[in-house]
Amino acid sequence: MSRLITLDETDSTNSYIRAHLNELEDGDAVTALLQTAGRGRREHSWSPDREMLPLSVLLRQPPHPEAVSLCAGVAVCNALKALSPDFPAPGIKWPNDVIVSGFKVCGILCESICTGYRFDIICGVGVNLSQTRAHFDGIGLPHAASIEQVAGIVPDRQALARDIVRRLTELCRKDFVEIREEYSSLCLTTGREVRLISENGERTAFAQGIAENGFLICRDDSGEFEVNSGEVSVRGLMGYV
Ligand code: BTN
Repeated sequence: MSRLITLDETDSTNSYIRAHLNELEDGDAVTALLQTAGRGRREHSWSPDREMLPLSVLLRQPPHPEAVSLCAGVAVCNALKALSPDFPAPGIKWPNDVIVSGFKVCGILCESICTGYRFDIICGVGVNLSQTRAHFDGIGLPHAASIEQVAGIVPDRQALARDIVRRLTELCRKDFVEIREEYSSLCLTTGREVRLISENGERTAFAQGIAENGFLICRDDSGEFEVNSGEVSVRGLMGYV
């Protein structure tokens, strides 16, 4: 049985796992009441916030390391849906922003650790539980919202964390084909025209699907190509999603 370690405060739950790697086993998870120096994708910081659930899970040698971040998005969506039969349908903005009613309610940062021939993943999830609209507007995040804002409920931190860990560890062991199927059924990006934003500028393309390495398969007049979430961010033509 994997453990859920609950800290009062830590700099980053992902960093905590990295620092305690030798004491932790596959599926062990860490959460904190306050994370003071959370990290986001593409070198962004993730604000300290007591109304947010920071959760990191250690996955030792997962069969499809490149698919763990896709699995995390699916696990969070399914855990949110299970909170209430009336929960508004969650979806995933590629690669793994969890979106409810057009707002980002959860971000995911997966980091890999390579030691010799071992390849482990730290999967970090930040769920916005009960912040207000004024809070997000005040810190310049108009696209973010909390579960309380979009669904009118404040989830129990421990129960939600345990459910996400259970769903994530189960899904990570499945075939990639099954993972991709589950992910694709929730993905809001594929099957649409999108704007691809990178250091080299912007281009518009049609997002066709998800490749085996988790890249987004796109098409434009020049043909088919794949984009990597580390290099490109994606927006809908009409807005954030
Ligand atoms: C994003 O940029 O959207 C990803 C944000 C991921 C934040 C979570 S909070 C728990 C874990 N610990 C971190 O330092 N980051 C992740």
